[in-house]
Amino acid sequence: MLCTLSQVAALALMVNAASAAAVTVPDATYAGATSSDSFPPKSTSVNSKQFPGEEEVGFPGPTPTGAEAAAAQTAPLYPYNTGSAKSFPLVAPQPHGSSAFGDNFDMTKYWGNLSPWYSVSSADYGLPDANPLIPDGCTINQMMLLYRHGARYPTSGAAPSIFASKIANATKGEGFNTTGELSFLSTWTYKLGAELLTPFGRSQNFQLGVEYRQLYGELLNNFTAQHALPVFRTESQDRMVKTAENFAAGFFGVPEYMSEVNIELLVESTNVNNSGAPYNTCNNSNIASRGSIGSTVATKFANNAFNATLARLNSEVSGNLTFTPTDAIAMLQLCSYETISLGYSAFCPLFNKQDFENYEYYYDLAFYYNQGPGSPVAAAQGKGFLEEWLARFTHTIPPANSALNETFDNSSTYFPLNQSIYADATHEVVLLDTLTAFNFTALFAGPPLNYTVGNEGTNTFVASKLVPWATHFTTQIMTCPARNQTKQIRFLVNDAVIPVSASHSGCPVDKDGLCPFDTMVGVLQKRAAEINFNYDCFANYTAVPGVDYNGRAPH
Ligand SMILES: *[C@@H]1O[C@H](CO)[C@@H](O)[C@H](O)[C@H]1NC(C)=O
Ligand SMILES: *[C@@H]1O[C@H](CO)[C@@H](O)[C@H](O)[C@H]1NC(C)=O
Ligand SMILES: *[C@@H]1O[C@H](CO)[C@@H](O)[C@H](O)[C@H]1NC(C)=O
Ligand SMILES: *[C@@H]1O[C@H](CO)[C@@H](O)[C@H](O)[C@H]1NC(C)=O
Ligand SMILES: *[C@@H]1O[C@H](CO)[C@@H](O)[C@H](O)[C@H]1NC(C)=O
Ligand SMILES: *[C@@H]1O[C@H](CO)[C@@H](O)[C@H](O)[C@H]1NC(C)=O
Ligand SMILES: *[C@@H]1O[C@H](CO)[C@@H](O)[C@H](O)[C@H]1NC(C)=O
Ligand SMILES: *[C@@H]1O[C@H](CO)[C@@H](O)[C@H](O)[C@H]1NC(C)=O
Ligand SMILES: *[C@@H]1O[C@H](CO)[C@@H](O)[C@H](O)[C@H]1NC(C)=O
Ligand SMILES: *[C@@H]1O[C@H](CO)[C@@H](O)[C@H](O)[C@H]1NC(C)=O
Ligand SMILES: *[C@@H]1O[C@H](CO)[C@@H](O)[C@H](O)[C@H]1NC(C)=O
Ligand SMILES: *[C@@H]1O[C@H](CO)[C@@H](O)[C@H](O)[C@H]1NC(C)=O
Repeated sequence: MLCTLSQVAALALMVNAASAAAVTVPDATYAGATSSDSFPPKSTSVNSKQFPGEEEVGFPGPTPTGAEAAAAQTAPLYPYNTGSAKSFPLVAPQPHGSSAFGDNFDMTKYWGNLSPWYSVSSADYGLPDANPLIPDGCTINQMMLLYRHGARYPTSGAAPSIFASKIANATKGEGFNTTGELSFLSTWTYKLGAELLTPFGRSQNFQLGVEYRQLYGELLNNFTAQHALPVFRTESQDRMVKTAENFAAGFFGVPEYMSEVNIELLVESTNVNNSGAPYNTCNNSNIASRGSIGSTVATKFANNAFNATLARLNSEVSGNLTFTPTDAIAMLQLCSYETISLGYSAFCPLFNKQDFENYEYYYDLAFYYNQGPGSPVAAAQGKGFLEEWLARFTHTIPPANSALNETFDNSSTYFPLNQSIYADATHEVVLLDTLTAFNFTALFAGPPLNYTVGNEGTNTFVASKLVPWATHFTTQIMTCPARNQTKQIRFLVNDAVIPVSASHSGCPVDKDGLCPFDTMVGVLQKRAAEINFNYDCFANYTAVPGVDYNGRAPH
C-alpha cells in the first residue's frame, strides 16, 4: 500500500488514539502493575510552518553522492555480527604484520574523528568506580544530549579525493604498475561521495536514538504533563538534518518521528550565528596561527611517522609515482572512509599496528591544538553551547556574547527553557570546543601533547574517545534523597563519567562524579564570564603549539 505523508500521519494519530483508549490503569506503583503513561500528549501536532523542513530552510551545503556499495559481491570477508562487534556491519581487517586471526587489535579505535564511537571507561579519566547508570538513591529528572552526526563521506576536496586524482594521473604516465599488497591499486576506483551521511552513519544516529529512548524515555511523561512536544535542534547542512531525523526516527519510531517532535534547523552558513557552527562567526578560527595550529603540528608529525611503511609501499609501485607522507595519511583515511562507506577497504591491511597508533596521534595533535586546551579559540567557540546550557537549566534567556543565535534563543518556541529532554546535533569540532569551554580538564590531564617526539602517553587526551562518529556528551540532572537532598548533576562523554572535583571548585570528590547542581551552575557561570568571545575570535594575537591555553587566547 502506498500512502502520502499526510495519510501516514493521520494513520499514526488514529493508532495512537485507539491504543490510548484501550487501557486505563490507576497509579502503577505495585509490583507487576501495568503503566498507563503515554506519549505523545493528546491533540498536539508538529508545526511545520514554525519548523520548516530542509528544502525551505536551504543552506544544505554540497551533496555529491558516491557509488553504491557492493560488499556482498566484492568484500574479502562477510560482516558477521558476533554480538560484540560494535562496528557491525563493517569489516575491519587486522593490520599489516599480524596473523589473520591471531591478534585482537581493533584498528577502528585508532582512527581519531573517523572512528565509530564506542563506550569509553570512566577509569580512563580517573573515576574507576563510576557507572553511567543513575547512581543508587538518585532519580533522574532532566537529560541533555549533544551529539555528533554519524559516519559521513570525506568533506569536499579532502585528501582521499586528491590521492585518487594522483593515482589517476600516474596511470596515464609511462610504466605504471603495482605489485604485492598494492596490486589492488591498479584496478582501484574512487567510489566515495562527499559530506553526506553513509548508510552506516545513518544507523549510528538511529541506534543512538533507540538507545536514548531506552535509557531516558520515561522523561517524555514530563512533556505529556506539560501538554507540549519536544524541540530537538540541528543545523541546516544535509547531513545534520538527516542526523537529527535518524536520531528522532530511532527515538520516536517511524513514522512517529514526523509527528511527535519539532525539529529545528538552524542555518549553517558564513557569517550566520549558530552555536552548532561557531566557526562561521569566529573569524580567528580560520587563521592558521590561531584556529588551526593543530593541523600544522599534526602534519609536521606525520612527515616523520610513516617512513618505513612508505619505503615498503614505494617498492611495490613502478612508474611516475612516489608516495609521500601526505599520501600515507590519505591512504589511512581511505581505509577509514571506505570502511564506513562501503563496508571494508583494501587500504587497511597496508598499514601496521604502529602506523595506526601514529595515525591516531596525528588526530590527537590536530584536535588537542585545534579544539582542545592547546587552541586559543576553542573555549570561545564552545561558549555558545555553554551559555545555552546555563540558560536552559537556570531558565533565563542566554546573553548575546558568543556564536549562539539570539534571534532564536530569545523565543520560547525555538528555545524552550522547560524541557526534561534536550537533544542537539552538531559537529565533532564543536563538541570538543564545548568540552573545553566546560573546563573538563580531566579529559586533557597531563602536559601539552609533544609534537616532536610523538606520543609520550603522558596525557589522557585521545581523539577517538572524544570526537568519533556519533560522539555524545550527556548531562544528567537528578535528585538523590538518600545521599544529599540537593539537586545533583553529572556529565558523561560516550558513557564515561567525567570527574569534576579538581576542575569545578566546590564539587566534592565523588566516586560517581556527582556535584550539587547549584555549585556546578555557579562554577560554569564563572567560566562563561572568563571566556572572551570577542577577543579570542577577533583580536590580533599569535598562539604557538606546545602550550596549554585552557582553550583561551593568550593576552
Ligand atoms: C592530475 O592532473 C590534473 C591535470 O593535469 C591536475 O590538474 C591535477 O592537479 C593532478 N592531480 C594531482 C593530485 O596532482
Ligand atoms: C610525473 O608526474 C608529475 C606529477 O604528477 C608530472 O608533473 C610529470 O609531468 C610526470 N612526468 C612524466 C614523465 O609523466
Ligand atoms: C605488472 O607487474 C606484474 C607483477 O610483476 C606483472 O605480472 C604484470 O605483467 C605487470 N603489468 C604490466 C602492465 O606491466
Ligand atoms: C518537568 O520537568 C521539569 C524539569 O525537571 C520540572 O521542573 C517540572 O516540574 C516538570 N513538569 C511536570 C509537569 O512534571
Ligand atoms: C540567526 O539566524 C538567522 C538565519 O536563520 C539570521 O538571519 C539571523 O541574523 C541570526 N541572528 C543572530 C542574532 O545572529
Ligand atoms: C569577520 O570576517 C567577516 C568576513 O568573513 C567580516 O565581514 C567581519 O567584519 C569580520 N568580523 C570582525 C569583527 O572582524
Ligand atoms: C622521513 O622522511 C622524510 C622525507 O619524507 C625525511 O625528511 C625525514 O627525515 C625522515 N624521518 C625519519 C625519522 O627518518
Ligand atoms: C552574532 O552574535 C553576536 C553577539 O553574540 C553579535 O554581536 C553579532 O552581530 C551577530 N552576528 C550576526 C551576523 O548576526
Ligand atoms: C551536599 O550538598 C551540600 C549543599 O549544596 C554540599 O555542600 C555538599 O558538598 C554536598 N555533598 C555531596 C556529597 O554532594
Ligand atoms: C578550570 O580547571 C582548572 C583545573 O584544571 C582550575 O584550576 C580552574 O580554576 C578552572 N576554571 C574555572 C573557571 O573554574
Ligand atoms: C597583527 O599584529 C602583528 C604584530 O604586532 C602585526 O605585524 C600585524 O600587522 C597585525 N595585523 C593586523 C591585521 O592588524
Ligand atoms: C617534546 O620532547 C622534546 C624532547 O624531549 C622536548 O625538547 C620538547 O620540549 C617537548 N615538548 C614539546 C611541546 O614538543
